[in-house]
Amino acid sequence: MKSITVFKGDGIGPEITAAVLQILKAAHAPYDYEEFEVGEKEYKKNGALIPEAAFRSFEKTKLLLKAPITTPIGKGFRSLNVTLRKKYALYANIRPARSSAVIPTPFPDVDIVTFRENTEDLYIGVEYAMDADTIHAVKLITRKASEKIIRAAFTYAQKHHRKKLTCVHKANILKQSDGLFLHTFYQIAEEYPHIIAEDKIIDNLCMQLVMHPAQFDMLVMPNLYGDIVSDLTGGLIGGLGLLPSMNIGTTYAMFEAVHGSAPDIAGKHIANPTALLFSACLLLEHTGEQEISQRIKKAVQTVWETTNIRTPDLGGTATTEEYTQAVIRQLQ
Ligand code: NAI
Ligand code: MG
Repeated sequence: MKSITVFKGDGIGPEITAAVLQILKAAHAPYDYEEFEVGEKEYKKNGALIPEAAFRSFEKTKLLLKAPITTPIGKGFRSLNVTLRKKYALYANIRPARSSAVIPTPFPDVDIVTFRENTEDLYIGVEYAMDADTIHAVKLITRKASEKIIRAAFTYAQKHHRKKLTCVHKANILKQSDGLFLHTFYQIAEEYPHIIAEDKIIDNLCMQLVMHPAQFDMLVMPNLYGDIVSDLTGGLIGGLGLLPSMNIGTTYAMFEAVHGSAPDIAGKHIANPTALLFSACLLLEHTGEQEISQRIKKAVQTVWETTNIRTPDLGGTATTEEYTQAVIRQLQ
């Protein structure tokens, strides 16, 4: 049995976490769970968004299934995700976007996995004023961080039998910084001769993505482009409802839905647990449980194809619990 740290989060977090844990148990995932209240409630009670015990648990298990957390409004709050990424060196942000039959989109055949570098580029947050009217912002690209994210992408491609990896950049203008990223990409590509390696300039990629997305398989890029392009690929498949993600480093890995805590529907029993469930499937695959992940995804697919049991965001009338039970029935 592997131990998994679970942050139950705010808003719809506890509801979708309960649903996902029920499904994981029904699928006999070989895990036990260390569950923690994190976020607003915890902050009001104990003055910290994440209690020390929750950090300790993650440091022990190295695996975190994280529900969305409401970012408190006010000064002095750093984004919790930025904190977690930094503290645990989660250098790769990975978002698979795959079209599905339940969400109508003009792009029914999208299946793209984006690898976004998570630790440097313009996101190091170094900006300074040369004078009152001139600001410099630092774009940091290192060979080391570039190698890590690019190698992670090729390794994933190999493990998941992907055919092509596209490096996204603007090296025609940013000759040194993006140039280093691009050069590193083709160096590492030589170690993976059976995976097609190509590159696209970011602006051209954006046009291609909205015109002919099916030509892309996997994308790898520096932080800023990755932030924007992974939202674009999410939009191609119809938005937030079904989008999972993972943040991985050498030691730690964190799995979460792309959406937030949805306070507008919290407690109404209508939240869609699928994005967090698919994030849990990424966790299963990360820990070598491909078969269980496949079974869960197939169960969801069967519910979509053979019933009209869906949560309201997908046009249905089912509650979170009814939808969860329908998936569990398919697993049995
Ligand atoms: P949101 O993603 O929570 O909600 C946007 C819209 O999508 C809402 O109408 C919501 O009801 C709907 N929605 C989202 N997830 C859904 C689900 N699973 N099922 C059904 N409907 C769903 O974005 P919003 O409202 O901008 O942010 C709310 C809070 O979440 C904020 O405090 C924000 O900072 C936080 N947030 C946290 C994230 C995280 O912890 N990873 C990520 C994004 C936002
Ligand atoms: Mg973003």
